[in-house]
Amino acid sequence: MTLARILLAEDDEIMRITLSDHLRKKGWQVDEAEDGRQALQKIKTEQYHVVISDIRMPHATGFDILEELQKAAVPTDVVFMTAYGSVEDAVDCLKQGAHDYLLKPFDMDDLTIRIERILEIQAVKARYITLQDCCRQFRKPIVGSSQCIQDMHGLIKQVAASDATVLISGESGTGKELVASAIHYGSPRGNGPYVRINCAAIPEGLMESELFGHEKGAFTGAESKKTGRFEMANGGTLLLDEIGEMPLNLQAKMLRVLQEKEIERVGGTKSIKVDVRILCATAKNLASEVKKGTFREDLFFRLKVIPIVVPPLRDRKGDIPELCQTFITELGQGEKTITLSQDAMALLLSYDYPGNIRELHNIIERLLVLHPGQTIEPQHLPADLTTDGSPHHQESLLLAEAVSQAEKSCILRALQKTGNKKSDAADLLGISRKNLWEKMKSYNMN
Ligand SMILES: Nc1ncnc2c1ncn2[C@@H]1O[C@H](COP(=O)(O)OP(=O)(O)OP(=O)(O)O)[C@@H](O)[C@H]1O
Ligand SMILES: [Mg+2]
Repeated sequence: MTLARILLAEDDEIMRITLSDHLRKKGWQVDEAEDGRQALQKIKTEQYHVVISDIRMPHATGFDILEELQKAAVPTDVVFMTAYGSVEDAVDCLKQGAHDYLLKPFDMDDLTIRIERILEIQAVKARYITLQDCCRQFRKPIVGSSQCIQDMHGLIKQVAASDATVLISGESGTGKELVASAIHYGSPRGNGPYVRINCAAIPEGLMESELFGHEKGAFTGAESKKTGRFEMANGGTLLLDEIGEMPLNLQAKMLRVLQEKEIERVGGTKSIKVDVRILCATAKNLASEVKKGTFREDLFFRLKVIPIVVPPLRDRKGDIPELCQTFITELGQGEKTITLSQDAMALLLSYDYPGNIRELHNIIERLLVLHPGQTIEPQHLPADLTTDGSPHHQESLLLAEAVSQAEKSCILRALQKTGNKKSDAADLLGISRKNLWEKMKSYNMN
C-alpha cells in the first residue's frame, strides 16, 4: 500500500505534538493543523487517507471539516476526538458519516489500531473496485450486426432500465447467458451483485438450500449456516438459469418469494426481506412444459413479464464471419491466428449449427489448437459441416473421439428409454444428474 497520509487537526499544542510523534513512529506521514481553518485549507490542497480531528476548535469545527471532505470525489475517513461530556456531538458525527470517534483521554495504541483497521478497509475497497473493473472488462459483448441482434440490443436496453422479470429463451448455445449479463450490467443495479444459479446442475435435494440458504442444523450435514443465492443477490440481479429444470415443489416456493419479496432459510423461522431483480433463462419451451404439467402455469406467467427470444444462429448467418473473427482473436490470444479461405467460409455459412454459437466457438477453438498451418481450407473443417448437418458415423481412430461417440449414444439411448427424464436417465447411466447435464452440454445435446 502507498504511504498512508494523515491529517491531525487539534488546537491543544501538547496533545497535537504527542499524537503526531506517536503516529509518525508507525511510519505514517502526518500533517498538523492548529485550528479548523488550517485544517480546511489543507484538505483543499492535499489528499489524505485519514483525518483525525478534534470537534471543537477555533474558526471551524470538526463538523465543518467532515462536511467539506464529503464533497470530495475520493472519500477520506474521519476519526473524531472529543472530550468526555460531548458524547452526543460525537454520536451525531457518526450519523453524519464520520468513521469513528474516541473519547479523551484515550490510549495511543487504541488510536493506532483504529487507524490500521481503516487503512485495511480502504485497501480492500480499492482491490474490490479494481477487480470489479477487471470483471467488467472481461464481460463479453454480444457480437453480431444482423437485424435480429440489433433489435435484441434495443430490447435489452429498454428492459435493463426497468426492474421487470425477464424470461430469456432460445436454443442451447445461442447466448442466453450473455443476454442476461448485458441486462444486469446495463441496469441501475449494474454495480450490485450479479448471481447465477443453474437449476439443471444442482441436485434436486440441495436446490432449496442453494436458493434460500439454511440455518445451522436444518438438516443432516448442515453443519453451519449458509447464505442462499437470493440473499447474495440482494441489491442486484439473480439469474435462474435452466429454470425449466426446477422441481415442482420449489416452483411453488419461488412463486411465493416473487410475490412477497421475502425468503425463508431452510430450517429458519423468520422471513428475510430481499430486493432482487429476477432474470430467467431456458432452452426448454416452457409453454409446452406447462401443458405437460411439469411447469406451473402461474409461475410461467409471473416470470415472462418480458420475454426475450434469442434467435438460433441459422437464422442470422450474416453474423458468422464477424463471430469467427472475434473467436479467432479471443482464442488465439495474440499468439496464434488463422485465416479462413473463401471456400472454408462458404462451408461455414452453409452449415445449420444445431449447437448454435457454442458449436461455432468450438469449431474455431479446435482449428486453432489442431491446425498447424495458417490458412483453413474446407478439408480442415469438421466432417459434420460437409455432411449437411447430419452427424457422421465414420469409425474414428482417435481415442477421445471414439469415447465421446460411445458416450453420446449411451446417453441418447438412456434418454429414449426413460422418456427424456434426466434424473432417471442419470440413474440408468450410473452417473449424477449434474454429470449428465454437463456431458449433454458439452455434446450440445440439451
Ligand atoms: N452474440 C455472441 N457473441 C459472442 N459470443 C457469443 C454470442 N452468443 C454466444 N456466445 C458465446 O457462445 C457460448 C454459449 O453462450 P451461452 O452460454 O450464453 O449460451 P446459452 O444460450 O446460455 O446456452 P445453454 O442453453 O446451453 O446454456 C459462450 O461461450 C458465449 O460466450
Ligand atoms: Mg446457458
